[in-house]
Amino acid sequence: MNKKVLTTCVAACSIIAGLSLIPVSGIMAQNTGRPEMTLNGGSKGPVLFKHQLHQNVVKDCAVCHKDFEKKPGALDAAKKDGILRAKQVMNKTCIACHRAKRGAGEKSGPTSCNACHS
Ligand code: HEC
Ligand code: HEC
Ligand code: HEC
Repeated sequence: MNKKVLTTCVAACSIIAGLSLIPVSGIMAQNTGRPEMTLNGGSKGPVLFKHQLHQNVVKDCAVCHKDFEKKPGALDAAKKDGILRAKQVMNKTCIACHRAKRGAGEKSGPTSCNACHS
């Protein structure tokens, strides 16, 4: 094989390899869900939740999703099935983080009832 043929082959192979990566990364790109949603806050009223904002500040999906699936309605389903207690995510995940961040002097979210529930 002379040098020119080899170069052409290497170039072509890279293109083919590159193209074949597109559908793979397309499939692997994770579904990040709704950028904003209203969560069921029971008798205290609905909670507007900025999902995308949290994905940007929290980074690790598992901080929240260790407790419920990445599906719409997963939180209510986990409470209904007794996997999560009422207010468990609110207290142990949402408010716990907001308190810790505030305590550390970092940018944080609300900890008072009516700032989350409306
Ligand atoms: C601060 C908490 C939190 C973090 C961090 C978080 N999520 Fe979520 N996510 C939620 C809540 C709450 C729901 C709503 C579940 C429900 O409807 O019961 C949700 C729902 C979803 C859904 C279902 C679709 C939808 O729109 O409801 C997907 C998909 C999802 N999240 C993906 C992700 C991915 C991927 C990450 C990380 C990049 C992530 N989430 C990080 C809290 C979080
Ligand atoms: C950081 C936001 C936030 C704050 C602050 C907050 N809540 Fe919640 N609350 C939620 C979320 C999210 C849920 C749904 C998830 C859960 O039940 O863990 C919820 C759920 C609830 C529920 C329904 C539980 C059920 O399953 O029936 C009640 C009642 C409630 N909160 C009362 C309160 C009261 C009272 C306060 C103040 C002492 C408060 N919340 C502060 C976010 C918050
Ligand atoms: C691991 C940390 C962490 C967790 C878990 C978390 N938050 Fe937050 N939250 C933040 C930070 C940081 C901000 C401030 C972000 C900013 O203003 O840039 C914030 C901001 C907010 C705000 C104010 C958003 C606005 O309008 O600017 C609300 C409401 C809120 N969080 C609700 C929730 C609820 C409900 C949950 C649980 C489902 C939750 N958070 C879980 C860290 C967290």
